[in-house]
Amino acid sequence: MNGPEELLDDGNIALIGPMGVGKSSIARLLGAWLDRQVVDTDELIEQATGLPVAEVFATRGEPAFRTLEADAITAVAERRGLVVATGGGVVLQPANVAALRGSGHVVLLLADPAELARRVEPGRRAGRRPLLGDGRDSLARLSALLEERRARYEAAAHVTVEVTGRPVELVAAEVLRALEDRVAGAR
Ligand code: S3P
Repeated sequence: MNGPEELLDDGNIALIGPMGVGKSSIARLLGAWLDRQVVDTDELIEQATGLPVAEVFATRGEPAFRTLEADAITAVAERRGLVVATGGGVVLQPANVAALRGSGHVVLLLADPAELARRVEPGRRAGRRPLLGDGRDSLARLSALLEERRARYEAAAHVTVEVTGRPVELVAAEVLRALEDRVAGAR
């Protein structure tokens, strides 16, 4: 019988979607199941700068962050066999989307803004969510960002998986099933 890895090709599996949707947790789980290296583009930026993402925003500004993000995407897109967790704003630059789609499969994770707001709250309080400020209007801000970016997310994705109210194992299993179907369909 084939193991799960043999049902896929060696393309990267890139997870996109709004902040708080669980891209990093799902990426870690998929990486463990598939025995693949997991790369988080926010972490690549932190390694390149020696600064937390929030500090990059604060000291260098969002445009500088987006340039670093594009560099990180270019680097991962040159490789294969990775599970890639991206930042929520990765779809703002069409070149990022082209690079991710060209290097493998792009999976969109989506959740209700209320669930996103609950999930980001601890990180926001810890100062790790530069786009959410003092949090007084996190829900409104997350809803607005999702609506602003929804069309880009949908156009970037090969497959979409709904996350709201579902445990990470279930979401990861559905991602895997959807990717296996996609690969089988292409063979
Ligand atoms: C951002 C999302 C963050 C991080 C940065 C900007 C965004 O990543 O890249 O704070 O523009 O939505 P996560 O989606 O992993 O939180």
